[in-house]
Amino acid sequence: MTKGIILAGGKGTRLYPMTKTVSKQLLPLYDKPMIYYPLSVLLLADIRDILIISTPEDIIHYEDLLGDGSNLGINITYKVQEKPRGLAEAFLIGEDFIGNDNVCLILGDNIFHGTNLSDILSKAKQNKGATIFACNVKNPTAFGVVEIDSNRKIISIEEKPLKPKSNLAVPGLYFYDNSVIEKAKHVKPSARGELEITSVNKEYLDTGSLNVELMGRGMAWLDTGTPENMLKAAEFVEAIQSRQGYYIACIEEIAWRKGMISDQDLRKIGEELKMTDYGKYILSLLEE
Ligand code: TTP
Repeated sequence: MTKGIILAGGKGTRLYPMTKTVSKQLLPLYDKPMIYYPLSVLLLADIRDILIISTPEDIIHYEDLLGDGSNLGINITYKVQEKPRGLAEAFLIGEDFIGNDNVCLILGDNIFHGTNLSDILSKAKQNKGATIFACNVKNPTAFGVVEIDSNRKIISIEEKPLKPKSNLAVPGLYFYDNSVIEKAKHVKPSARGELEITSVNKEYLDTGSLNVELMGRGMAWLDTGTPENMLKAAEFVEAIQSRQGYYIACIEEIAWRKGMISDQDLRKIGEELKMTDYGKYILSLLEE
């Protein structure tokens, strides 16, 4: 089985003053809280056991928002990260939660949308070892960067390199086998004092068990770390939703399509929100 972790802590300093008193992943991304987007990816990956990690101050708000997940037919539990000590700390905080299973980690501020997303996710879930993704970007220096050969084998992976060896950035979505817990325990804090996910990925690379899946032109990967990126991501969501009529990251719709909740459950949620376009959309699904 594969479990899921959403990392929704951090300081969000690039979004100050917006995030001085509100956790970044609770901010609206167009019409829904940002965390709905990574949560929708885990649901699409058929992951039913989810751990949300956030700061001591903010965790209560995520619990208020999403509860125990039963209204979506899933299990959601919560844990605190005392300080933003890096992405790889998720596997130490989540050790008991992961147990003997595999785990998918997604960052709370990453948004994915594309036609073949479900296929990409199910392939990644089946791979042995670890799987990261690669997306072409204009400015790779701000990300983990992966270099691959013509057989799509990974040659190198570097965190925020000054001279990137490719334009392939690694987005905040990772699949690992159970050995990630032990590997994360070996990671030493980097110069910036964080347990880097890239260090964990390097351990997999060294043992020949790091896979990479390319996210091509048909996939949109957006992150929302700055006001400009947030606005652009919101505009993207609005454009797709108003033009195509399909919602991005409507978690209730995904749960319903996957048979995790009934028509009746969906109708109840829709009725509660029917004063909004979001609620009207949910109710319209039942008339399909
Ligand atoms: P970042 O964008 O690297 O950090 P941040 O959200 O604190 O923002 P800023 O750089 O503006 O200060 O984090 C990426 C995602 O991972 C984001 O969703 C927050 C989350 N995160 C944690 O939950 N814990 C951590 O220790 C780190 C480093 C990030």
